[in-house]
Amino acid sequence: PEEATASGDGVLEIGGVAVTELAERFGTPLHVYDEVGLRRQIRRFIDGLGERWPDSEVLFASKSLPAVGMYRLAHEEGLSIDIAGGGELQLALAAGVDPARLYFHGNAKTDAELQMAVDAGIGTIIVDNDDELDRLERILVRPQRLLLRVIPGVEAKTHVSQATGGSGSKFGLPMDQAERAIARMQAHPLMEFVGVHLHIGSQILDTAQFAEAVGKISTVGTFSTYDVGGGLGVSYTYDEQAPSVESYLDAIVAAAREHLPAGSRLMIEPGRSIVARAGVTLYRVTSVKRTGRTFVAVDGGLADQMDIALTQQRYEALLADRLLEPWSESVQLVGRQCESGDLLVDGAPMPPAHVGDLVAMTATGAYAYTMSNNYNGALKPAIVFVSDGEARLVTRRETYADLLATHAPARAGVLV
Ligand code: LLP
Repeated sequence: PEEATASGDGVLEIGGVAVTELAERFGTPLHVYDEVGLRRQIRRFIDGLGERWPDSEVLFASKSLPAVGMYRLAHEEGLSIDIAGGGELQLALAAGVDPARLYFHGNAKTDAELQMAVDAGIGTIIVDNDDELDRLERILVRPQRLLLRVIPGVEAKTHVSQATGGSGSKFGLPMDQAERAIARMQAHPLMEFVGVHLHIGSQILDTAQFAEAVGKISTVGTFSTYDVGGGLGVSYTYDEQAPSVESYLDAIVAAAREHLPAGSRLMIEPGRSIVARAGVTLYRVTSVKRTGRTFVAVDGGLADQMDIALTQQRYEALLADRLLEPWSESVQLVGRQCESGDLLVDGAPMPPAHVGDLVAMTATGAYAYTMSNNYNGALKPAIVFVSDGEARLVTRRETYADLLATHAPARAGVLV
């Protein structure tokens, strides 16, 4: 976490606010973001790509943190926005994002979603397949900018569920089918085809793979726009090294200079690498059990950190209100869901923990909130942005009333 420091009493501070104060005021589990860290990371991408390639555009892959407050911040900082469905479209519009700056992704867009996007005046649709072109033929009443997603055939070295650019991918058309789809768009009076898109996957730590993808996409043809996706990995644990934003940009721009037409627009779509390390999840310890191993259990878990199960992502955590005390044991940090896989950290060094202590799980800013769910009746956590000693609620915590409104709207009240 970018701005995390300890105050004199050994309590972790984020953006100048003690985590004890954050937990008291907003409750736990709580996703806390350092707003300065978010903005700094965005500037690195926008300025860094702008300095290296004359006509560039950076999109925020909003699936990584689809919170209205984040859409607003991203828009303010000058990012365009990648949305992946009707829900993210609604959230972006609610945040006041200019629809012209929205890019609509997805391999299974429905008629209703496309209609909604077109009615909202969406800037660009990234076409995935021929059925989508059929839909657009029925729906379009005015010119629409389009990109085509192609499969570059780059097998990203990452978790299998995060690799999307290999020849077996469900996303986009194989390169040998692209030409026909492009010809179809170019022949249609309302389809304004501008270029091609690819995305090879997520949490990628080898920049050579991005360069390889740029080389592949150039072989589809000469266009005005090339969107080479997102996917830059981040460091989650002390033994995992990630490339810097700058070395990532160096790699793709070197490949672009070699392969893409001068004067074309180069676009990228980072998500994780903007938000992951700016976010920390705060939990409250609910029990400490010593059974040969020490189990420190907290008031959240798998339901709000799906990546521990989905991609076996490993994390670090610290006892955030006892930073001055020496570590004395390595604990199993576990959540409250009814799964043995609900192990947040396998071996977290800590001083002796007590019920009521606060745990900070670091680098949890990407994909955690958005994949959180109601397993075991869990409620989605709140999101808070902190900067200059001020915390503001960006997304409120789900309540039992929300849960009942979905499942039993006729029920008179909520038990308290
Ligand atoms: N562009 C497209 C078309 C994408 O599908 C994605 C991520 C991105 C950009 C942004 O990728 P990033 O820069 O964040 O790596 N649920 C998984 C991650 C799935 C990523 C999906 N697509 C996880 O939690 O690891």
